[in-house]
Amino acid sequence: MPKDKKNKSKKKQKRYDHLTEMARITRLMKEMYERGQSDLCDVRDSEIHGRGVYAAQDIAEKTQIIEYLGEYVNKEDSNERAWDQAAKAEKSGEAAVYIFTLDKKWDIDGNVAWNDARLINHSCEPNCEAWIEGDEIFIYSIKPIKKGEELSFDYGFDVDCYEDHICKCGKDSCVGYIVSQEQWPELKKRILEKEELADQTA
Ligand SMILES: C[S@@+](CC[C@H](N)C(=O)[O-])C[C@H]1O[C@@H](n2cnc3c(N)ncnc32)[C@H](O)[C@@H]1O
Ligand SMILES: [Zn+2]
Repeated sequence: MPKDKKNKSKKKQKRYDHLTEMARITRLMKEMYERGQSDLCDVRDSEIHGRGVYAAQDIAEKTQIIEYLGEYVNKEDSNERAWDQAAKAEKSGEAAVYIFTLDKKWDIDGNVAWNDARLINHSCEPNCEAWIEGDEIFIYSIKPIKKGEELSFDYGFDVDCYEDHICKCGKDSCVGYIVSQEQWPELKKRILEKEELADQTA
């Protein structure tokens, strides 16, 4: 084959390979988008914060609602990403860290557009919990949820940095900060101590 023709054919092959690869990636993305959606819920603006996830129909207790999708990252990378996300959040004022603990070695970074579950807000009276099944994370209802109710779970944040995370869940039982329910007694103690200190210095 003349050199000119050979080059043209190589170029054509390269272009076809590229388009085939793009089509494969598009199919995969579509698959992920579909997997990250659920007929049981949809995304809209939230009164708690930014966007939230709402029940699209009545949901019975212990129903698997939606998968928490993302990238599998080891602890080292995950720590780096968490700091990175927290720093970006601080700058933008839009605090959001999407790292979810999977096991001792791995986390899931849910900061991907096809993970609707990443938009579920925290509440002091949550109606959902995240349950780990093998190496996947699913959001389950822990009580019956009415159509239109916002989905929420306990973010389980540590009490040590409670002042950084004001809670706006609006529930009667709201403790004012996004802190793991397990640590509420400690939180209440620290809030009281702070108030007493403020009274003494006033
Ligand atoms: C993973 S995002 C949740 C989705 C978020 N609403 C959005 O639009 O991106 C987590 C962030 O949402 C906000 N958030 C979630 N629950 C909250 C609550 N109960 N009160 C105040 N802010 C909350 C906090 O800024 C938190 O860091
Ligand atoms: Zn609250």
